Amino acid sequence: MTTQARAVLFHETGGPAVLTIEEVRLDDPGPGEVRIRVDALGLNRAEALFRAGTYYYQPTLPGSRLGYEAAGVVESVGEGVTEFAPGDPVLTGPQIEMSAQGVYGDRIVLPVESVVPRPGSVEAVTGAATWLAYATAYGGLLETGGLRPGDHVLITAASSGVGTAAVQTALRIGAVPIAVTRTGAKRQRLLEVGAAHVIAAHEEDVPDEVQRLTGDRGAELIFDPIGGPELPALARAAASPGTIVLYGWLAGKPTVMPHNWPLTVHMYANGHLSATAAGRRRINRFVESGLRDGGIRPVIGEVFDGLDRIVDAHRLMESNTHIGKIVVTVDH
Ligand SMILES: NC(=O)c1ccc[n+]([C@@H]2O[C@H](COP(=O)([O-])OP(=O)(O)OC[C@H]3O[C@@H](n4cnc5c(N)ncnc54)[C@H](OP(=O)(O)O)[C@@H]3O)[C@@H](O)[C@H]2O)c1
Repeated sequence: MTTQARAVLFHETGGPAVLTIEEVRLDDPGPGEVRIRVDALGLNRAEALFRAGTYYYQPTLPGSRLGYEAAGVVESVGEGVTEFAPGDPVLTGPQIEMSAQGVYGDRIVLPVESVVPRPGSVEAVTGAATWLAYATAYGGLLETGGLRPGDHVLITAASSGVGTAAVQTALRIGAVPIAVTRTGAKRQRLLEVGAAHVIAAHEEDVPDEVQRLTGDRGAELIFDPIGGPELPALARAAASPGTIVLYGWLAGKPTVMPHNWPLTVHMYANGHLSATAAGRRRINRFVESGLRDGGIRPVIGEVFDGLDRIVDAHRLMESNTHIGKIVVTVDH
């Protein structure tokens, strides 16, 4: 059997205006699949890059879907699914290939591996803002970066969804988060989120400030989604030995490798950690325990009401004026 659903599609790559909302046919969930009524979508930069054709994999056109992060309720499950039942609150995030499985829509079908339980106390807007940001912060800072209590961690693009999650994740284990933002406009909000210090990169010398704040030791870890030709300058803020976890490429220009050593540079990919059942279990446990005890409180910059606001929501993301996550609620 098939059901009618609404999905956000794009037929050519480009700016936010290429996104359209269309009626699509949705098959019943097959073996190992789950059908979800979507109540809210969490946006992230990867989706803007995918829409523009500049992400690390390309959309299948015409008619590509979009989106990693949704929160909703299970409507039905396919044969062999024992993990979920109709009525369960859930999130999405792991192991999604956006062209075919993108979650922007009012109803979606996903493999069970891409579905994560949502505590009943967590409403959809908060839930949609959680998984990808905290999975990346957990995997990048703790599993790959080896961040320890008492370490200083320099978090660039700290006002982003992942950056604000990284500030909270560092605090959760007793590390000291130093936030970097380009101007002073978001300084006060970043202090409220929990940053121990905030450095405005266009107004201050970041490595000099880090050396001052750490008593000339430098930051044990740099968590950076920017990369590009400025990386060697940023690396002057690293301790010796130090570690950089690069997890994005906002600079959009080739990354130059720093020449200070000993220094370990990792290129972190969340999809690698979430590819195994053991990795997903650790991420999901980290997220779920934090949501339950309040250590994880996603920072929500703006909520747009209704799927037809998706273009406006993407425009806001590209303006870079937001802090934390942008969420779109889905009407039924
Ligand atoms: N490797 C992984 O597994 C993984 C997983 C998730 C996300 N990511 C990556 O993480 C990054 C952040 O994603 P997000 O969704 O959290 O971002 P976001 O919420 O859209 O925030 C991006 C923020 O970064 C800063 N920024 C933007 N362009 C910049 C540039 N060219 N140079 C310096 N700063 C810039 C701006 O903050 P200020 O105005 O405060 O400077 C902006 O508000 C993206 O590159 C994304 O692809 C990677």
